[in-house]
Parts: sequence; structure tokens; C-alpha cells
Amino acid sequence: MQKKVLITGGAGFIGSHLADELIEKGHQVRALDNLSEQVHGPKVKRPEYLNKQVELQIGDVRDRKAVDKALQDIDAVFHLAAMVGVGQSMYQIKDYTEVNNVGTAVLMEALMEKPVEKLVVASSMSIYGEGLYLDSRGNQHVECERKLSDLKKGNWEMYDDNGEILEPAPTSETKKPNLSSVYALSKYDQERLSLISGKAYNIPTTALRFFNVYGTRQALSNPYTGVLAIFASRLLNNNPPLIFEDGKQKRDFIHVKDVARACRLAMETPDADGKVFNIGSGNRYTIEEIAHKLAEVMGKAHIKPEITGKYRVGDIRHCSADRARAKEILGFEPEVDFKEGLHELAEWLKTQIATDSVDKASEELSSRGLTV
Ligand code: NAD
Ligand code: UD1
Repeated sequence: MQKKVLITGGAGFIGSHLADELIEKGHQVRALDNLSEQVHGPKVKRPEYLNKQVELQIGDVRDRKAVDKALQDIDAVFHLAAMVGVGQSMYQIKDYTEVNNVGTAVLMEALMEKPVEKLVVASSMSIYGEGLYLDSRGNQHVECERKLSDLKKGNWEMYDDNGEILEPAPTSETKKPNLSSVYALSKYDQERLSLISGKAYNIPTTALRFFNVYGTRQALSNPYTGVLAIFASRLLNNNPPLIFEDGKQKRDFIHVKDVARACRLAMETPDADGKVFNIGSGNRYTIEEIAHKLAEVMGKAHIKPEITGKYRVGDIRHCSADRARAKEILGFEPEVDFKEGLHELAEWLKTQIATDSVDKASEELSSRGLTV
């Protein structure tokens, strides 16, 4: 049945793809987005990529009046509005807490008075901290954390108490959160606030823990966005991608169209109510590998990434998704092959101009002691 859907943060990277997915399935979409300058640039103007059928309301998720207006006649809400940079969250603590935590609180108070049929909230794999690790005997290690003293010596991997190196394994939703950045704390807060108040006020709620999302429309000039967009911006400006640590840290990259489909499935699946799901591809790539792959598809293989040997405070070493629950309950399986996804990204990049502010962002982190 056709629904009228609100997407907070609906003018952003994931939100705009979700809007396309929902419109294609016959739903009506409204977006509430403040067109934040860091993401959309200094001119407050509707992004060209945003589907023409989206009703865009420019407003802040912290502003109760704007939220009430956006909720009028709405059946389902996707809550995506957030500040998204792990590194930046470590010094803009107030802004991250206001937008992510308080913004969600404002939305939940508005929903208390005007419940909807379904709420889907964007959580993040960052809440796990380190993913799950196994030792050579197959024992699970669930509370891994790296010591600053090891990181200072360039010992990047995870070790057990006997000094044995641990291997990363798929992380399931049952792993206890271990929050290692202000951003992660705020995502956990968003997830829990939504689930707790959703239950209290009879609003069927689902939280999706996205892994590293990539694809077209990711804000290229935002030096605090995801690593693939940052590397793309560097390469477009003929600068080498700057890699933290030794580049062997692994992440689970999932295409934005797969994420959009997972969001829709969460809305449509009553069995998903009250639950959290990992939304990842299950595939792990090292950051060095993706720097090379991206340079290659962009025809810039001659620009070699620079391995800085620096550590960004708040970063984890490895994490990838156990996809079993999402497959069983949502019927979700990723469809976009990484190589095809990168080619699509490269085609889009040909049409884009990016301001490379990475050096400035790196200085901001190092001047505060947030890189080691
Ligand atoms: P994005 O920055 O492209 O989109 C976020 C949107 O929210 C932007 O359009 C921005 O203008 C808007 N926004 C920011 N502050 C706002 C405010 N106060 N009021 C209203 N709108 C506001 O980021 P994205 O990658 O599309 O992320 C969407 C969601 O997914 C976020 O909640 C993020 O934490 C989560 N997430 C993203 C990833 C990823 O890899 N991109 C992974 C895990 C979780
Ligand atoms: C990302 C998202 C976060 C999301 C999480 C979930 C962003 C900014 N962060 O965090 O919103 O919740 O995934 O999966 O989109 N790196 C470099 N050089 C750079 C930038 C990054 O080497 O210039 C490295 C980092 O040190 C890290 C890896 O790349 O090891 C990934 O970084 P990033 O893209 O910021 O992702 P996450 O921190 O995993």
C-alpha cells in the first residue's frame, strides 16, 4: 500500500537514494533537511540529484516546530539526519551531541504526540567498537581494544594476553557495544532512544546498523565524510590519498542502493519491529586496497596513496558484518558487486568537482592531539 514517508536527512547521500527507492515503489516522500553547509556547500539550495518528486522541507531536526510540520500526514519515518564524521566528533562534541542525540529526542517527543506506523533509524557499525576476533584455537574475543602505547609504536593489530595476533571475524548484532568515539556514542543513543520510546508509545521501530556505505552523491568536499569519498576528492585534485595506520585495517563496504533497499525492507517487515540489524556486505577490504582500486577505476593509478603511519583517535582496526539476521528476517542480501559499484562511482566522479580540504582537516585533528 502506498505510504507517505518522511526521511530526516533526506537530501543527503543515503537519504536521497532511499527517496529514489521509495518513489520507485510508489510511495510519496517528504524530506526534512537543514542542508548543512559541510555536506551541501555554502549555498542553501536543493541538491540537483534529489528526486524531483521529493517534497523538501528545509529545517532542523532539533527544531520542534519544523519537525511537527514535517510529520503532518506522515505514515512512516526514516531518521537519517546526523553529523557523520568520527574524527570531527572528537572535538565538536557539543554539535554532535545536539544534532544526533538531542535531534533524535526532539523527533521522539514529536512522535509521542503523533505516532506513526513505522520508524526506521540509521544506526551504525561504529557502536561495536572493534568487531569480533578469533584466536588460533577458535576462541572468541569480544572486548578488544588497542592500547595507545601500542599504537604509538605502530603495533596496529589486535593481540590476546599472550601476544598472539587475533583474526577478525563477522560481527553479529549480539556483540556488546563498545563505544570508542563521540560519534559512536551518539549513534547508540539514537538507536536506543528510538527503540525505547518506540516501545513505550507503540511505534513499531527498527534500527539498522549500517557498515561503510559508498556510492554516488557522497559529499566529496566534506573532509569528514567516508573514506572512499575522501580518497575520490584527493584523486580528483591529483593528490595522493592519505592512509592512516599501515593501510591494512579492514572495513565492510556496502553500496548505497543496497542500503536503500534494506531500509525499505525494514519498513515493510513487521517481524523487524523492535529489532536491530547489521546492514553490510560481509566483504572485507583493506583501506590500502580500496585506495588502489579507486585510483585504478578513476584512471589515476599513477597516483600512489601515502601511508602516513598515523592513528586517528576513535578509529577501530577491523569490523565486518554477520549478515545472518538481516537475511533471515528482512530477506535482505546485498546485490551490488564491489567492482561494479566502484565503476559506477568512477563514472559519476567524472562529472564532479571537489574541493580537497583534507590537509586542513588533518591539521585540525593533529593540533588537538587527535592523531597519534
Ligand atoms: P550525509 O551527511 O550525506 O546525510 C546526512 C543529512 O542530514 C545531510 O543532508 C545533512 O544536511 C542532514 N542534516 C545534518 N544535520 C541536520 C539537522 N540538524 N537537521 C536536519 N538535517 C540535518 O550522511 P549519510 O552518509 O547519508 O548518513 C545518513 C545516516 O546514516 C546518518 O545517520 C549516519 O550516521 C548513518 N550512517 C552512515 C554511514 C555511511 O557510511 N555513510 C554508515 C553508518 C551510518
Ligand atoms: C564510517 C562512517 C560512519 C559510519 C561508519 C559505519 C563516515 C565519515 N563515517 O566510519 O558514519 O557510522 O562508517 O560503518 O562516513 N581513513 C584513511 N584516510 C582517510 C580517511 C579514513 O586512512 O582520509 C581510514 C580510517 O582511519 C579508517 C577507515 O579509513 O580506518 C575508514 O574510515 P571512515 O570512512 O571514516 O569510516 P569509519 O570510521 O569506519
